[in-house]
Amino acid sequence: MESFRSNPFRPGAGRVPPELAGRDVILGQVAGVMEQVIEASEGDRPIVISGLRGVGKTVLLNEFVRNATESRRWIAVKVEAIAGGSLRKTLAQALHLELRKLATPGEQIRDQVARLLRVFRSFQLTVDPAGTYSFGFTVEAMPGRADTGDFERDILDLFEELGLTARDLGMGVLVAIDELQDAPKTDLNGLNVALHTLGQAPRPVPIVFIGAGLPSLPSVLADATSYAERLYDYRHLGLLNDAETTTALTKPAEARGVEWEESALVAARRAIGGYPYFAQACGKHVWDARAVPDRITDDDARVGIELARDEVDRGLYQSRWDRATPAQRDMMKAMAKDKDRPSAIQDLVQRTGKSRTSDLSVSRNELIKNGHIYSPDRGYVAFTVPGMADFIARKHSD
Ligand SMILES: Nc1ncnc2c1ncn2[C@@H]1O[C@H](COP(=O)(O)OP(=O)(O)OP(=O)(O)O)[C@@H](O)[C@H]1O
Ligand SMILES: [Mg+2]
Repeated sequence: MESFRSNPFRPGAGRVPPELAGRDVILGQVAGVMEQVIEASEGDRPIVISGLRGVGKTVLLNEFVRNATESRRWIAVKVEAIAGGSLRKTLAQALHLELRKLATPGEQIRDQVARLLRVFRSFQLTVDPAGTYSFGFTVEAMPGRADTGDFERDILDLFEELGLTARDLGMGVLVAIDELQDAPKTDLNGLNVALHTLGQAPRPVPIVFIGAGLPSLPSVLADATSYAERLYDYRHLGLLNDAETTTALTKPAEARGVEWEESALVAARRAIGGYPYFAQACGKHVWDARAVPDRITDDDARVGIELARDEVDRGLYQSRWDRATPAQRDMMKAMAKDKDRPSAIQDLVQRTGKSRTSDLSVSRNELIKNGHIYSPDRGYVAFTVPGMADFIARKHSD
């Protein structure tokens, strides 16, 4: 009985939620694109998914990759871009692991696969000259393919070769990059150019590219290459509506024979405000707070919400606050007055007692760089974490 009633909720970065609520449309659309790509053995437009912190971007990407891997019809890799780290290196590492699966030693390797491995080796040698990653047998680099050291040209060669090989094997290629806004600008430009070039072939190779990141990602990509605006199929991942939040909370409970009382559910929904991360935190603490095994009451909800709020305050909001400089805090306090709506820089100038927009530009740029805020529109800024404004209003307003 114990495990039947074990806590199903999963707060934390990238943790698979017990119920992936409100994402059926995007899951269906991406599945549709992928099916089409395999069927026609032809690539489609690259996809970009953007959304605030903790709305479930990583969970979605993982789901796409898991489905692809399970179907055994995809060469699938997922990497996370990190500020200051090159995409070439992370991609080379992830692809190495994936390509080893295509090249089990002892088996007769198809010509096209052997060719792909050689092109991959060229690509890899530019980041790992010692050739540490091995395939268990010798793979010579292929001169003139993916070996210039110029990311833009090499990634194009590599993607092309991956696509041709996948086609040869009746498979597709899935490349997923999380936190894409953090990749170096030159890498983003290289990626844009490569994907653009691939898309222009008479019969594009069967690659599906999915990038995910903060709401700033579309403009970061456009900054790197002007035509990026038209290159990608942009999808915004939003907060959950009431029905979706309800599903996220009640389905996992029902599966364990536990029922939410209506008033408890209303209280939890109000506290959660559609934020998936907070839904998991609330779910978890409310679950643990229940006084009887098969029911969640008002009281349980009140206690659990309180504990969840404390935990998220400490873990998510306070740590960001602590890392901010006094000037950055002033700016965030001024922003918090707009609640979860974007703030006009003009208003912030006034609220912080400054005289010019440029007086705020250092704080603005630093906060953007740290990923605390983003600019949804010219002259506006907004928090990247839902609930940050509320946290500041509760804890740090004077
Ligand atoms: N559709 C959903 N329904 C319920 N819970 C969800 C949903 N999507 C994500 N979650 C939960 O929300 C939390 C955050 O998910 P995830 O790490 O994927 O967000 P993210 O958008 O990648 O955040 P970040 O921008 O910080 O990387 C996890 O605990 C996850 O289980
Ligand atoms: Mg994430």
